[in-house]
Amino acid sequence: MFTSSIGKKYLMALTGFVLIGFVFVHMAGNLQILMGPEKINAYAHALQSLPMPILWGSRIFLLVCVVLHAWTAIVLIRENRAARPRENDVEVTKRAGLSSLKMGLTGTILLFFIVFHLLHFTVRAVYPEYDDLMTTVGAPEGMEVHNVYSMVLAGFQHTWVSVFYVISMFLLCGHLGHGFSSVFQSLGIRSESWRNKIDWAAKGYAWLIFLGFSIVPILVIGQKFDLISFFEPSLFSEPLAMR
Ligand code: HEM
Repeated sequence: MFTSSIGKKYLMALTGFVLIGFVFVHMAGNLQILMGPEKINAYAHALQSLPMPILWGSRIFLLVCVVLHAWTAIVLIRENRAARPRENDVEVTKRAGLSSLKMGLTGTILLFFIVFHLLHFTVRAVYPEYDDLMTTVGAPEGMEVHNVYSMVLAGFQHTWVSVFYVISMFLLCGHLGHGFSSVFQSLGIRSESWRNKIDWAAKGYAWLIFLGFSIVPILVIGQKFDLISFFEPSLFSEPLAMR
């Protein structure tokens, strides 16, 4: 079924749906950083302490979703291009062509973002010194955990990193704003009467995700340039000294 065009559209919609849900859960988890180091460190530690099969099962599942989503997108764009009449293109085809071009472009940049992001905060290959950030704050009695709080503050104090994240989140917002409604369209549940409501919900969701993710790098940069004071200054300057 998944080799037919309609099957691939379903697959793209279903994997997109999983990713739409993932970004919300990840954003909500990240926002705990605004409540201080105990919360976010304990949360990250709890996630990393999940039983191996659950932790790696979810990581592999997410990766498979990203790969399938990108692969079906590439194949469908190619098939559409091959099937499109060269002349007398009707307006609707042109418009659909433009939005799939935009989705392809934002999707490709987001793939780069995901690779960078994993190397930055999960593999920690961009700044290997983040591996040494250990703390008892947010750790169970008598233990040390990875200091995700300091790592994120240190990470976003590089202005270029924050700018790259906020631009990527803006592109994610554009991608979601269109993708969210497309999921309903592909699954055949976007009736004419629901069309407007779904489109508005998609836009609202996309902006919520943008704001929820961008607030952290924006606050860090604001504090770096003495515009605001949000994070505990002693904890804030500690990662700065690390460079
Ligand atoms: C400002 C935005 C973001 C921040 C601050 C952020 C923060 C983080 C941090 C700190 C980790 C590593 C957690 C740890 O050490 O245990 C992480 C992992 C991850 N992030 Fe993000 N993230 C952001 C945006 C995103 C977006 C937009 C996506 C997807 C489109 C994403 C996908 C992932 C994935 C797949 C992982 C790996 C999870 C794992 O290790 O299993 N992140 N993120």
